[in-house]
Amino acid sequence: MMKNIVLIGFMGSGKTTVGKSLEEKTDMVFVDTDELIEAYEGCKISDIFTDKGETYFRRLENETLKNLLATTDNKVISTGGGIVTNQANIPLLKQLGKVFYLRIKPETVVERLEGDKTRPLLIGEDKLVKVEQLMTDRKELYEMAADKTIDTDYLSVNEIVDIILENFT
Ligand code: S3P
Repeated sequence: MMKNIVLIGFMGSGKTTVGKSLEEKTDMVFVDTDELIEAYEGCKISDIFTDKGETYFRRLENETLKNLLATTDNKVISTGGGIVTNQANIPLLKQLGKVFYLRIKPETVVERLEGDKTRPLLIGEDKLVKVEQLMTDRKELYEMAADKTIDTDYLSVNEIVDIILENFT
């Protein structure tokens, strides 16, 4: 059984910030599937979406998880917000370790990602409608994948980190 901490959740839910803080407070190295994909492709996620499309990106996410399964243990793994949309990824996430779902309200996402240009799926008018739609589509998938769900809207990064460490056995 692999023993990574796996972070899932919507864009803006704090996976990267929380993951980096976990790295500081433990001896676990932080890795991020989006960063691995950008390094592998040699370009930004937004360019991958524009040049090659979302389906191509989702294939890379699946490949990345398989690679992590072959190579990675005792790390903190942060994932892209849409990783659960390929249901084949859910058992892979679970095999990697304990899966923590950082749950967040649509309003909080919009507040945090105001002016953000790095998320191709949220570009354009009426972010709230887009966020609500994507969350409705994904809600059950996040819950299926999660071993532990944390409602993060009113928690500090430190509080979230503490909950994760208390629940990571
Ligand atoms: C996506 C989330 C992003 C990134 C890509 C698609 C999504 O990651 O993988 O833009 O479908 O929710 P973050 O959750 O780190 O923003």
